[in-house]
Amino acid sequence: MARLVIVSNRVPASAKREQQAGGLAVVLEEALKGEVLWFGWSGKRTHATSAKPTFATRGTTTFATIDLSEEDYQAYYAGFSNRSLWPLFHYRTGLVAYSREDYKGYRSTNQKFAQALVPLLRPGDLLWIHDYHLMPLGRALREQGVDLKMGFFLHIPFPPLSVFDILPPAGELAADLAAYDLAGFQTAEDRDNFVGCARKILPEAQRAPAIASAVALPVGIDGKAFARMAKTSRMNAESRRLKDSLVGRKLIIGADRLDYSKGLPQRFEAYSELLETHAEYREKVSYLQVAPRSREEVSEYRELKRTLDRLTGRINGKYAEFDWVPLRYMTHGLSRRLLAGFFRMAAIGLVTPLRDGMNLVAMEYVAAQDEEDPGVLILSRFAGAAASLDAALIVNPYDPGGIAEALHEGLTMSRQERQERWRSLMHRIDEDSAAAWCRRFLARLTAPPKTLRAAS
Ligand code: F6P
Repeated sequence: MARLVIVSNRVPASAKREQQAGGLAVVLEEALKGEVLWFGWSGKRTHATSAKPTFATRGTTTFATIDLSEEDYQAYYAGFSNRSLWPLFHYRTGLVAYSREDYKGYRSTNQKFAQALVPLLRPGDLLWIHDYHLMPLGRALREQGVDLKMGFFLHIPFPPLSVFDILPPAGELAADLAAYDLAGFQTAEDRDNFVGCARKILPEAQRAPAIASAVALPVGIDGKAFARMAKTSRMNAESRRLKDSLVGRKLIIGADRLDYSKGLPQRFEAYSELLETHAEYREKVSYLQVAPRSREEVSEYRELKRTLDRLTGRINGKYAEFDWVPLRYMTHGLSRRLLAGFFRMAAIGLVTPLRDGMNLVAMEYVAAQDEEDPGVLILSRFAGAAASLDAALIVNPYDPGGIAEALHEGLTMSRQERQERWRSLMHRIDEDSAAAWCRRFLARLTAPPKTLRAAS
Protein backbone atom coordinates (compact mmCIF):
# COMPACT_ATOMS: atom_id res chain seq x y z
CA MET A 1 0.00 0.00 0.00
CA ALA A 2 1.29 3.48 -0.90
CA ARG A 3 2.41 5.71 1.93
CA LEU A 4 0.03 8.65 2.39
CA VAL A 5 1.59 12.08 2.77
CA ILE A 6 -0.77 14.62 4.32
CA VAL A 7 0.10 18.29 4.23
CA SER A 8 -1.86 20.86 6.23
CA ASN A 9 -1.08 24.16 7.89
CA ARG A 10 -1.85 22.85 11.39
CA VAL A 11 -0.58 19.46 12.48
CA PRO A 12 -1.76 17.74 15.68
CA ALA A 13 1.77 16.54 16.53
CA SER A 14 1.79 17.31 20.23
CA ALA A 15 -1.78 17.49 21.58
CA LYS A 16 -3.66 14.38 22.67
CA ARG A 17 -6.65 13.81 20.42
CA GLU A 18 -9.38 14.35 23.02
CA GLN A 19 -7.75 17.58 24.21
CA GLN A 20 -7.98 19.19 20.79
CA ALA A 21 -10.86 21.51 20.06
CA GLY A 22 -11.73 20.05 16.64
CA GLY A 23 -11.28 21.06 13.00
CA LEU A 24 -9.42 19.52 10.12
CA ALA A 25 -6.61 18.02 12.20
CA VAL A 26 -9.03 15.95 14.28
CA VAL A 27 -11.00 14.67 11.28
CA LEU A 28 -7.91 13.45 9.50
CA GLU A 29 -6.42 11.83 12.52
CA GLU A 30 -9.64 9.92 13.17
CA ALA A 31 -9.82 8.65 9.64
CA LEU A 32 -6.25 7.68 8.88
CA LYS A 33 -5.03 4.13 8.94
CA GLY A 34 -1.75 2.69 7.60
CA GLU A 35 1.59 4.43 7.16
CA VAL A 36 1.30 8.20 7.07
CA LEU A 37 3.70 11.12 6.90
CA TRP A 38 2.00 14.30 8.07
CA PHE A 39 3.79 17.53 7.21
CA GLY A 40 2.99 21.12 8.21
CA TRP A 41 3.62 24.08 10.47
CA SER A 42 4.76 23.41 14.04
CA GLY A 43 2.65 26.30 15.36
CA LYS A 44 5.90 28.00 16.47
CA ARG A 45 7.10 31.42 15.31
CA THR A 46 10.87 31.92 15.34
CA HIS A 47 13.54 34.16 13.77
CA ALA A 48 13.72 32.08 10.56
CA THR A 49 11.50 29.56 8.74
CA SER A 50 13.15 26.17 9.24
CA ALA A 51 14.66 24.47 6.23
CA LYS A 52 14.54 21.09 7.96
CA PRO A 53 11.58 19.62 9.81
CA THR A 54 11.39 18.26 13.35
CA PHE A 55 9.98 14.73 13.62
CA ALA A 56 7.60 13.06 16.08
CA THR A 57 5.86 9.70 15.82
CA ARG A 58 2.48 8.49 17.08
CA GLY A 59 1.39 5.01 16.07
CA THR A 60 1.93 4.60 12.33
CA THR A 61 1.99 8.36 11.69
CA THR A 62 5.19 10.38 11.50
CA PHE A 63 4.72 14.11 12.00
CA ALA A 64 7.23 16.42 10.32
CA THR A 65 6.87 20.10 11.17
CA ILE A 66 8.66 23.32 10.40
CA ASP A 67 8.68 26.61 12.34
CA LEU A 68 7.74 29.84 10.57
CA SER A 69 9.59 33.13 10.82
CA GLU A 70 7.54 36.01 12.22
CA GLU A 71 7.69 37.65 8.79
CA ASP A 72 6.38 34.56 6.96
CA TYR A 73 3.71 34.01 9.60
CA GLN A 74 2.44 37.58 9.19
CA ALA A 75 2.35 37.49 5.37
CA TYR A 76 1.31 33.87 4.76
CA TYR A 77 -0.99 33.10 7.71
CA ALA A 78 -2.27 36.37 9.23
CA GLY A 79 -1.98 38.26 5.93
CA PHE A 80 -3.01 36.59 2.69
CA SER A 81 -4.66 33.47 4.20
CA ASN A 82 -6.72 35.23 6.84
CA ARG A 83 -7.10 38.82 5.62
CA SER A 84 -7.72 38.01 1.95
CA LEU A 85 -8.72 34.38 1.33
CA TRP A 86 -10.76 33.70 4.47
CA PRO A 87 -13.18 36.66 4.16
CA LEU A 88 -13.43 36.31 0.37
CA PHE A 89 -14.15 32.58 0.44
CA HIS A 90 -16.78 33.22 3.14
CA TYR A 91 -18.50 35.76 0.84
CA ARG A 92 -17.49 38.74 3.03
CA THR A 93 -16.12 40.93 0.27
CA GLY A 94 -16.33 44.05 2.46
CA LEU A 95 -13.78 42.55 4.84
CA VAL A 96 -11.23 41.56 2.19
CA ALA A 97 -7.86 43.30 2.49
CA TYR A 98 -5.29 42.59 -0.19
CA SER A 99 -1.60 43.40 -0.12
CA ARG A 100 0.91 42.42 -2.80
CA GLU A 101 3.55 41.97 -0.10
CA ASP A 102 1.39 39.48 1.80
CA TYR A 103 0.61 37.59 -1.37
CA LYS A 104 4.32 37.38 -2.20
CA GLY A 105 4.93 36.04 1.32
CA TYR A 106 2.09 33.50 0.90
CA ARG A 107 3.65 32.11 -2.28
CA SER A 108 7.21 32.14 -0.96
CA THR A 109 6.14 30.35 2.25
CA ASN A 110 4.44 27.69 0.10
CA GLN A 111 7.79 27.38 -1.75
CA LYS A 112 9.54 26.86 1.59
CA PHE A 113 7.02 24.18 2.56
CA ALA A 114 7.81 22.47 -0.76
CA GLN A 115 11.59 22.72 -0.26
CA ALA A 116 11.40 21.17 3.21
CA LEU A 117 9.01 18.43 2.06
CA VAL A 118 10.72 17.26 -1.15
CA PRO A 119 13.63 15.43 0.58
CA LEU A 120 11.12 13.42 2.66
CA LEU A 121 9.18 12.06 -0.32
CA ARG A 122 9.56 8.50 -1.62
CA PRO A 123 8.57 6.96 -4.97
CA GLY A 124 4.97 5.77 -4.87
CA ASP A 125 3.86 8.22 -2.13
CA LEU A 126 0.36 9.61 -2.43
CA LEU A 127 0.10 13.32 -1.58
CA TRP A 128 -2.99 14.91 -0.07
CA ILE A 129 -2.78 18.67 0.48
CA HIS A 130 -5.35 20.51 2.58
CA ASP A 131 -7.00 23.88 2.69
CA TYR A 132 -6.67 27.46 1.61
CA HIS A 133 -3.26 28.12 3.14
CA LEU A 134 -1.63 25.68 0.73
CA MET A 135 -3.29 26.09 -2.66
CA PRO A 136 0.01 26.80 -4.52
CA LEU A 137 1.89 23.91 -2.88
CA GLY A 138 1.14 21.31 -5.56
CA ARG A 139 2.57 23.46 -8.36
CA ALA A 140 5.56 24.40 -6.19
CA LEU A 141 6.27 20.68 -5.69
CA ARG A 142 5.87 19.93 -9.40
CA GLU A 143 8.33 22.74 -10.19
CA GLN A 144 10.78 21.00 -7.89
CA GLY A 145 10.49 17.78 -9.86
CA VAL A 146 7.86 15.87 -7.85
CA ASP A 147 5.74 13.71 -10.16
CA LEU A 148 3.68 11.89 -7.52
CA LYS A 149 -0.14 11.83 -7.49
CA MET A 150 -1.40 14.91 -5.68
CA GLY A 151 -4.88 15.68 -4.43
CA PHE A 152 -6.16 18.87 -2.86
CA PHE A 153 -9.15 19.35 -0.56
CA LEU A 154 -10.65 22.73 0.33
CA HIS A 155 -12.25 22.76 3.79
CA ILE A 156 -13.86 26.18 3.45
CA PRO A 157 -16.50 27.29 0.90
CA PHE A 158 -15.52 28.17 -2.67
CA PRO A 159 -17.30 31.37 -3.81
CA PRO A 160 -18.92 32.09 -7.18
CA LEU A 161 -16.98 33.80 -9.97
CA SER A 162 -18.29 37.31 -9.23
CA VAL A 163 -16.79 37.03 -5.73
CA PHE A 164 -13.64 35.01 -6.51
CA ASP A 165 -12.71 37.35 -9.33
CA ILE A 166 -12.33 40.25 -6.88
CA LEU A 167 -9.01 38.81 -5.81
CA PRO A 168 -6.21 40.30 -7.94
CA PRO A 169 -4.35 36.95 -8.25
CA ALA A 170 -7.55 34.94 -8.89
CA GLY A 171 -6.14 33.56 -12.16
CA GLU A 172 -2.91 32.34 -10.58
CA LEU A 173 -4.77 30.63 -7.73
CA ALA A 174 -7.20 28.95 -10.12
CA ALA A 175 -4.19 27.66 -12.06
CA ASP A 176 -2.68 26.36 -8.80
CA LEU A 177 -5.80 24.31 -8.12
CA ALA A 178 -6.00 23.13 -11.74
CA ALA A 179 -2.50 21.65 -11.39
CA TYR A 180 -3.63 18.94 -8.92
CA ASP A 181 -4.68 15.48 -10.07
CA LEU A 182 -7.86 15.84 -8.03
CA ALA A 183 -9.57 18.80 -6.35
CA GLY A 184 -12.19 18.11 -3.65
CA PHE A 185 -14.81 20.42 -2.14
CA GLN A 186 -17.29 20.17 0.73
CA THR A 187 -20.52 20.62 -1.25
CA ALA A 188 -21.82 20.46 -4.81
CA GLU A 189 -22.25 24.25 -4.68
CA ASP A 190 -18.56 24.77 -3.83
CA ARG A 191 -17.45 22.34 -6.53
CA ASP A 192 -19.69 23.97 -9.14
CA ASN A 193 -18.41 27.42 -8.14
CA PHE A 194 -14.81 26.26 -8.62
CA VAL A 195 -15.55 24.63 -11.95
CA GLY A 196 -17.43 27.75 -13.10
CA CYS A 197 -14.51 30.00 -12.09
CA ALA A 198 -11.90 27.74 -13.68
CA ARG A 199 -13.84 27.44 -16.96
CA LYS A 200 -14.10 31.21 -17.23
CA ILE A 201 -10.64 32.16 -16.00
CA LEU A 202 -8.65 29.28 -17.50
CA PRO A 203 -10.46 28.35 -20.76
CA GLU A 204 -7.32 26.58 -22.01
CA ALA A 205 -7.23 24.24 -18.98
CA GLN A 206 -10.76 22.81 -19.20
CA ARG A 207 -9.56 19.26 -19.63
CA ALA A 208 -7.22 19.42 -16.62
CA PRO A 209 -8.26 16.52 -14.32
CA ALA A 210 -8.71 18.83 -11.31
CA ILE A 211 -11.35 20.80 -13.25
CA ALA A 212 -12.93 18.03 -15.31
CA SER A 213 -13.19 15.68 -12.32
CA ALA A 214 -13.57 18.06 -9.37
CA VAL A 215 -15.51 16.26 -6.63
CA ALA A 216 -17.93 17.21 -3.87
CA LEU A 217 -17.13 15.03 -0.85
CA PRO A 218 -18.48 16.18 2.51
CA VAL A 219 -16.14 15.81 5.49
CA GLY A 220 -17.57 13.92 8.45
CA ILE A 221 -16.80 12.76 11.98
CA ASP A 222 -16.49 9.42 13.71
CA GLY A 223 -19.98 9.62 15.24
CA LYS A 224 -19.73 6.44 17.31
CA ALA A 225 -16.43 7.46 18.91
CA PHE A 226 -17.81 10.91 19.70
CA ALA A 227 -20.96 9.36 21.21
CA ARG A 228 -18.81 7.16 23.47
CA MET A 229 -16.78 10.17 24.56
CA ALA A 230 -19.96 12.13 25.31
CA LYS A 231 -21.38 9.31 27.41
CA THR A 232 -18.29 8.97 29.59
CA SER A 233 -17.64 12.70 29.76
CA ARG A 234 -21.22 13.28 30.96
CA MET A 235 -20.14 11.57 34.21
CA ASN A 236 -17.13 13.91 34.73
CA ALA A 237 -16.89 16.26 37.66
CA GLU A 238 -17.09 19.24 35.26
CA SER A 239 -20.29 17.95 33.65
CA ARG A 240 -21.80 17.48 37.09
CA ARG A 241 -20.78 21.03 38.00
CA LEU A 242 -22.46 22.36 34.88
CA LYS A 243 -25.60 20.34 35.62
CA ASP A 244 -25.73 21.55 39.23
CA SER A 245 -25.30 25.14 38.09
CA LEU A 246 -28.33 24.83 35.80
CA VAL A 247 -30.68 23.96 38.70
CA GLY A 248 -33.12 22.29 36.32
CA ARG A 249 -33.00 24.96 33.59
CA LYS A 250 -32.73 23.88 29.97
CA LEU A 251 -29.32 24.38 28.39
CA ILE A 252 -28.78 25.96 24.97
CA ILE A 253 -25.21 25.51 23.76
CA GLY A 254 -22.99 27.00 21.06
CA ALA A 255 -19.30 26.24 20.48
CA ASP A 256 -17.45 28.13 17.75
CA ARG A 257 -14.10 29.82 17.24
CA LEU A 258 -14.57 33.54 17.79
CA ASP A 259 -14.85 34.21 14.05
CA TYR A 260 -17.05 36.63 12.10
CA SER A 261 -18.14 33.78 9.82
CA LYS A 262 -19.94 32.09 12.73
CA GLY A 263 -22.83 34.57 13.04
CA LEU A 264 -22.39 35.10 16.78
CA PRO A 265 -23.81 38.65 17.09
CA GLN A 266 -26.98 37.59 15.23
CA ARG A 267 -27.19 34.53 17.47
CA PHE A 268 -26.92 36.63 20.64
CA GLU A 269 -29.59 38.96 19.25
CA ALA A 270 -31.81 35.95 18.56
CA TYR A 271 -31.51 34.78 22.17
CA SER A 272 -32.30 38.27 23.37
CA GLU A 273 -35.37 38.29 21.12
CA LEU A 274 -36.51 34.95 22.55
CA LEU A 275 -36.32 36.35 26.08
CA GLU A 276 -38.13 39.50 24.97
CA THR A 277 -40.97 37.88 23.02
CA HIS A 278 -41.33 34.73 25.14
CA ALA A 279 -41.03 35.94 28.72
CA GLU A 280 -41.90 32.40 29.88
CA TYR A 281 -38.28 31.38 29.15
CA ARG A 282 -36.78 33.94 31.53
CA GLU A 283 -35.08 32.07 34.38
CA LYS A 284 -36.02 28.79 32.65
CA VAL A 285 -33.13 28.52 30.14
CA SER A 286 -29.39 29.16 30.10
CA TYR A 287 -27.37 29.78 26.97
CA LEU A 288 -23.69 28.78 27.14
CA GLN A 289 -21.56 30.10 24.29
CA VAL A 290 -18.00 28.77 24.16
CA ALA A 291 -16.07 31.04 21.77
CA PRO A 292 -12.29 30.59 21.97
CA ARG A 293 -10.38 33.65 20.75
CA SER A 294 -8.81 33.21 17.35
CA ARG A 295 -6.52 35.08 14.88
CA GLU A 296 -6.28 38.08 17.16
CA GLU A 297 -3.65 39.77 15.00
CA VAL A 298 -6.44 40.44 12.45
CA SER A 299 -8.39 43.56 13.47
CA GLU A 300 -11.85 42.20 12.50
CA TYR A 301 -11.47 39.46 15.09
CA ARG A 302 -10.65 41.97 17.84
CA GLU A 303 -13.59 44.10 16.75
CA LEU A 304 -15.92 41.08 16.85
CA LYS A 305 -14.83 40.33 20.41
CA ARG A 306 -15.67 43.90 21.45
CA THR A 307 -19.11 43.54 19.83
CA LEU A 308 -19.82 40.27 21.64
CA ASP A 309 -18.55 41.62 24.96
CA ARG A 310 -20.94 44.55 24.56
CA LEU A 311 -23.90 42.40 23.54
CA THR A 312 -23.32 40.01 26.45
CA GLY A 313 -23.28 42.93 28.87
CA ARG A 314 -26.47 44.33 27.36
CA ILE A 315 -28.36 41.01 27.43
CA ASN A 316 -27.27 40.03 30.91
CA GLY A 317 -27.79 43.55 32.23
CA LYS A 318 -31.33 43.60 30.89
CA TYR A 319 -32.61 40.13 31.75
CA ALA A 320 -30.45 38.75 34.60
CA GLU A 321 -31.85 38.12 38.05
CA PHE A 322 -29.71 37.97 41.16
CA ASP A 323 -29.62 34.17 40.87
CA TRP A 324 -29.79 33.76 37.05
CA VAL A 325 -27.30 34.73 34.33
CA PRO A 326 -29.10 34.28 30.98
CA LEU A 327 -25.98 34.19 28.77
CA ARG A 328 -22.76 32.48 29.81
CA TYR A 329 -20.10 33.55 27.34
CA MET A 330 -16.51 32.37 27.54
CA THR A 331 -13.66 33.27 25.20
CA HIS A 332 -11.34 30.41 26.03
CA GLY A 333 -11.68 26.92 24.61
CA LEU A 334 -12.73 23.68 26.26
CA SER A 335 -11.36 20.24 25.39
CA ARG A 336 -13.31 18.16 22.92
CA ARG A 337 -14.00 15.61 25.65
CA LEU A 338 -15.54 18.18 27.96
CA LEU A 339 -17.59 19.71 25.16
CA ALA A 340 -18.90 16.26 24.24
CA GLY A 341 -20.38 15.84 27.75
CA PHE A 342 -21.80 19.38 27.71
CA PHE A 343 -23.42 18.78 24.30
CA ARG A 344 -25.15 15.69 25.70
CA MET A 345 -26.68 17.80 28.42
CA ALA A 346 -27.97 20.54 26.12
CA ALA A 347 -31.59 20.70 24.95
CA ILE A 348 -30.54 22.83 21.97
CA GLY A 349 -27.36 22.92 19.87
CA LEU A 350 -27.18 26.33 18.20
CA VAL A 351 -25.02 26.34 15.05
CA THR A 352 -25.74 29.41 12.94
CA PRO A 353 -22.73 30.43 10.82
CA LEU A 354 -23.29 33.06 8.11
CA ARG A 355 -21.22 30.79 5.85
CA ASP A 356 -19.25 27.66 6.73
CA GLY A 357 -17.40 24.99 4.76
CA MET A 358 -19.01 22.13 6.65
CA ASN A 359 -19.27 22.68 10.44
CA LEU A 360 -18.42 19.59 12.39
CA VAL A 361 -19.77 20.97 15.68
CA ALA A 362 -23.25 20.42 14.24
CA MET A 363 -22.45 16.72 13.77
CA GLU A 364 -20.75 16.43 17.14
CA TYR A 365 -23.78 17.91 18.89
CA VAL A 366 -26.05 15.30 17.27
CA ALA A 367 -23.67 12.40 17.93
CA ALA A 368 -23.41 13.37 21.60
CA GLN A 369 -27.17 13.07 22.25
CA ASP A 370 -28.96 10.49 24.37
CA GLU A 371 -31.11 8.63 21.83
CA GLU A 372 -33.93 8.22 24.38
CA ASP A 373 -34.17 11.95 24.98
CA PRO A 374 -32.20 13.81 22.31
CA GLY A 375 -31.80 17.56 22.03
CA VAL A 376 -32.60 19.62 18.94
CA LEU A 377 -30.05 20.95 16.45
CA ILE A 378 -30.70 24.43 15.05
CA LEU A 379 -28.57 24.80 11.95
CA SER A 380 -27.78 27.56 9.47
CA ARG A 381 -28.79 26.88 5.88
CA PHE A 382 -25.40 28.34 4.89
CA ALA A 383 -23.32 25.68 6.67
CA GLY A 384 -22.08 22.91 4.36
CA ALA A 385 -23.54 20.46 6.89
CA ALA A 386 -27.09 21.66 6.07
CA ALA A 387 -26.91 19.76 2.76
CA SER A 388 -27.08 16.45 4.63
CA LEU A 389 -28.42 17.42 8.08
CA ASP A 390 -31.77 18.55 6.72
CA ALA A 391 -33.65 17.00 9.65
CA ALA A 392 -32.30 19.80 11.86
CA LEU A 393 -34.32 22.98 12.35
CA ILE A 394 -32.86 24.93 9.44
CA VAL A 395 -32.63 28.71 9.86
CA ASN A 396 -31.43 31.78 8.03
CA PRO A 397 -28.57 33.00 10.28
CA TYR A 398 -29.09 36.63 9.21
CA ASP A 399 -32.57 36.60 10.76
CA PRO A 400 -32.49 36.76 14.58
CA GLY A 401 -36.31 36.64 14.65
CA GLY A 402 -36.30 33.36 12.71
CA ILE A 403 -33.66 31.87 15.01
CA ALA A 404 -35.72 32.95 18.05
CA GLU A 405 -38.75 31.14 16.57
CA ALA A 406 -36.64 28.02 15.99
CA LEU A 407 -35.44 28.20 19.61
CA HIS A 408 -39.06 28.27 20.77
CA GLU A 409 -39.94 25.38 18.45
CA GLY A 410 -36.97 23.34 19.66
CA LEU A 411 -37.63 24.00 23.32
CA THR A 412 -41.25 22.84 22.98
CA MET A 413 -40.72 19.94 20.55
CA SER A 414 -42.23 16.58 21.52
CA ARG A 415 -39.91 13.75 22.49
CA GLN A 416 -41.20 11.68 19.58
CA GLU A 417 -40.34 14.37 17.02
CA ARG A 418 -36.92 14.90 18.61
CA GLN A 419 -36.22 11.17 18.36
CA GLU A 420 -37.34 10.97 14.73
CA ARG A 421 -35.22 13.93 13.71
CA TRP A 422 -32.24 12.62 15.67
CA ARG A 423 -32.40 9.17 14.02
CA SER A 424 -32.46 10.72 10.58
CA LEU A 425 -29.54 13.05 11.41
CA MET A 426 -27.49 10.24 12.92
CA HIS A 427 -28.04 8.09 9.86
CA ARG A 428 -26.52 10.80 7.65
CA ILE A 429 -23.61 11.32 10.04
CA ASP A 430 -22.79 7.59 9.99
CA GLU A 431 -23.07 7.45 6.19
CA ASP A 432 -20.73 10.39 5.62
CA SER A 433 -18.20 9.53 8.32
CA ALA A 434 -14.63 10.81 8.45
CA ALA A 435 -13.38 7.37 7.41
CA ALA A 436 -15.78 7.25 4.42
CA TRP A 437 -14.62 10.72 3.35
CA CYS A 438 -10.95 9.63 3.41
CA ARG A 439 -11.71 6.38 1.63
CA ARG A 440 -13.77 8.09 -1.08
CA PHE A 441 -11.21 10.83 -1.72
CA LEU A 442 -8.27 8.43 -1.92
CA ALA A 443 -10.23 6.03 -4.15
CA ARG A 444 -10.83 8.88 -6.59
CA LEU A 445 -7.24 10.04 -6.42
CA THR A 446 -5.91 6.59 -7.23
CA ALA A 447 -8.55 5.68 -9.84
CA PRO A 448 -7.29 5.41 -13.43
CA PRO A 449 -7.90 8.80 -15.14
CA LYS A 450 -10.52 7.55 -17.61
CA THR A 451 -12.83 6.35 -14.83
CA LEU A 452 -12.82 9.79 -13.15
CA ARG A 453 -16.08 11.66 -13.48
CA ALA A 454 -17.49 14.74 -11.81
CA ALA A 455 -19.23 13.46 -8.68
CA SER A 456 -22.35 14.84 -7.16
O1 F6P B 1 -11.74 24.96 7.96
C1 F6P B 1 -10.81 25.87 8.17
C2 F6P B 1 -9.83 25.62 9.32
O2 F6P B 1 -8.56 25.41 8.80
C3 F6P B 1 -10.26 24.45 10.22
O3 F6P B 1 -9.68 23.26 9.89
C4 F6P B 1 -9.86 24.88 11.58
O4 F6P B 1 -10.80 24.51 12.54
C5 F6P B 1 -9.80 26.37 11.50
O5 F6P B 1 -9.81 26.75 10.15
C6 F6P B 1 -8.61 26.79 12.30
O6 F6P B 1 -8.16 28.02 12.07
P1 F6P B 1 -6.71 28.43 12.51
O7 F6P B 1 -5.75 27.39 12.05
O8 F6P B 1 -6.51 29.75 11.83
O9 F6P B 1 -6.73 28.55 14.00
